[in-house]
Amino acid sequence: MKRPYRHMPEYVFGNYKLRTILKSDATDMFDYGRDPEVTKYLNWGPFTSLNDAKLSYKEIFKPRLRNGLPLGYAIVDTVKNKMIGTIDFHSKIKSENSVEIGYCLHKDYWNQGIMSKSIQYVIQIGFEHLNYDIIRIKHLSGNVGSQKVIAKTKFKYKSSEPYLLEKVYGVLKDDMLIYELKREDYYGNQ
Ligand SMILES: CC(C)(COP(=O)(O)OP(=O)(O)OC[C@H]1O[C@@H](n2cnc3c(N)ncnc32)[C@H](O)[C@@H]1OP(=O)(O)O)[C@@H](O)C(=O)NCCC(=O)NCCS
Repeated sequence: MKRPYRHMPEYVFGNYKLRTILKSDATDMFDYGRDPEVTKYLNWGPFTSLNDAKLSYKEIFKPRLRNGLPLGYAIVDTVKNKMIGTIDFHSKIKSENSVEIGYCLHKDYWNQGIMSKSIQYVIQIGFEHLNYDIIRIKHLSGNVGSQKVIAKTKFKYKSSEPYLLEKVYGVLKDDMLIYELKREDYYGNQ
């Protein structure tokens, strides 16, 4: 398929769906992105206006297509027809054909296995549809939820580095843990 990142398959699991993020998702993105607890360990947010969410679509997600990356998946509650989070590829390094996965979910939906399920699919898409050679993922050591999601995958811990997260309400000093999954290890013991 030509330019597979422009033809991303959708994925339905239970009452949820992964589909490409839309401009019209901004209102729902603002709903979870304005929550300081949701954005505590992220290098963005909390959003203070709907315009922040609109800019996130325009300046973060949409330009990915120009860089040969899929725009990003929205996680949708299909019963409420509500967009409740994102999971996406970013930070492509062309020379090693690598990318990084990032994700974020509305607090009302935490602890229901939604991101564990989503990441399994996105890893599969990364190797089988987009043909990446290396996928990385990172989390701050305080972010236990993210650590547990990663622990259920085949990602291997590689290294950690000190990290300063500057938020409007102060600076968080922590360590960034870095994990990696290589194509050969993904296909290794399937
Ligand atoms: C991190 C995050 C994506 C987890 O998503 P989730 O859908 O709640 O995760 P799951 O339900 O699949 O949970 C996986 C495991 O983590 C545990 N977990 C989830 N959130 C947790 C938390 N805040 N503290 C402790 N454990 C947590 C779950 O109980 C589950 O444990 P189990 O394997 O023993 O059953 C979600 O909390 C989130 O969006 N946080 C804000 C944004 C963020 O930090 N993104 C990641 C940046 S690296």
